[in-house]
Amino acid sequence: MTELLFRGATVYTPDGPGDFDVSVSDGVITSVGPGGSGRGRVVDVAGKWLLPGGIDVHVHSRDPGFPDKEDFGTLTAAAAAGGVTTVIDMPNTVPAVDSAGVLEAKAALARSRSRVDFGLWALIRSSSTPEQLQALAAAGATGFKAYLGYGFDDGRKQVLYAPESDDPQLETPPDYGTLARLGPALAAIGLPVVIHAEDPAVLNSFKRPYETYADVLASRPPEAESVAISASAAVARQCGFHLHVAHVSSARGLASAEEAVAAGTSLTIETCPQFLWLSDADYQRLGTAMKMNPPVRTAADQAALREGLRRGVSGVVATDQAPHTDEEKAGDLEHAPPGTPGVQTLYLSCLELAKQMGDPWLATRWVSEGPAALAGLGESKGRISPGYDADLVLIDPTRSTTFSPRAMRSRQKHGALEGLRVSFAIDSVYLRGARVGAKAGGRMVTPSG
Ligand code: NCD
Ligand code: ZN
Repeated sequence: MTELLFRGATVYTPDGPGDFDVSVSDGVITSVGPGGSGRGRVVDVAGKWLLPGGIDVHVHSRDPGFPDKEDFGTLTAAAAAGGVTTVIDMPNTVPAVDSAGVLEAKAALARSRSRVDFGLWALIRSSSTPEQLQALAAAGATGFKAYLGYGFDDGRKQVLYAPESDDPQLETPPDYGTLARLGPALAAIGLPVVIHAEDPAVLNSFKRPYETYADVLASRPPEAESVAISASAAVARQCGFHLHVAHVSSARGLASAEEAVAAGTSLTIETCPQFLWLSDADYQRLGTAMKMNPPVRTAADQAALREGLRRGVSGVVATDQAPHTDEEKAGDLEHAPPGTPGVQTLYLSCLELAKQMGDPWLATRWVSEGPAALAGLGESKGRISPGYDADLVLIDPTRSTTFSPRAMRSRQKHGALEGLRVSFAIDSVYLRGARVGAKAGGRMVTPSG
């Protein structure tokens, strides 16, 4: 039996921070108590903070499908470097994860490359059947993702951002009707349904070419987000499934989500570091590194999202880590693909924001405890407590970090948070009691139900 004793750190437990010994046996936390109470080989971590490993519920591994952009090896190297010990991967890989067979093949691939634990979201297509969803759940999916308005190329088995509506090859995107049709099955399965919340009808009405960043904001107004949230929430409430709103980017979107919760919808809200740290003014500095869907909006949106997080309205911060190649991103605003890497900077950027709000420990709720609950991992991950996986991050609160392209482990080096300086550094990271290393060792996580 491998026994370890972390001694001397300030430990963040569900009851708050304290100076505790944490013992670990065979990858699981066995005790958290006052100094001298634990057993095992001592790891001296004096002066550090010991936090639960991060869980990023919104990443795009690009694997299989786009090895030039990313794969599970580079994705999870970036995650591990940033204190994220579990990633939940989105299904828009190729082939897209629309059946149990595809999910199982992807799981085998991820196991062979992943340095941290991983889960897999499954895709809802307009043609999905209840039986397919049930089989995906039985194969271990974390839940389901519906890309409202995104087309599907059934020949290439690929989700597309901006489908030409007259292309006969393309399957109709999933819409509120799809959610209503599949709603009873989704409710019976009991797993969360994630939506990419940009209403296609609103987007179509406002669409214009992107010459300046103002065109981006005019083309994708906050109404696209608020309408998608309200309509999906109405379906979720009536059918009884849990709705998780990915990457909320606007004050209006947040307000619609909060109204839906007040009306009794089972709904969780995710926002992203890029929306919490940036506004349209940063486009001048960042250029297309900041192009993503939904877009980074105004300073007023940024302030509302921060306030929502502080009040606990949004319980999950995830990155929407969506890398492309630096060459692709070097294109002009109209043609550069949307998305930014971010998994590596999730934990530290949240610690810094929480510190600015007066309580750095809040960050562990946003990036660990809240995401664990969403992904059905609330009994095994997300806390430093006996019985939980020893997924641990040691933070050095005396060293600062400036996010730089040189340190990025993702294939895409220029992320939207480039240049941000935070007053913490990652010291070391443990996955189920072992230092995260260069080799695969990640396991698939499945919801406990
Ligand atoms: C994502 C991607 O590239 O896969 N891009 C993005 O701008 N967010 C798609 C998504 O998560 O919606
Ligand atoms: Zn999305």
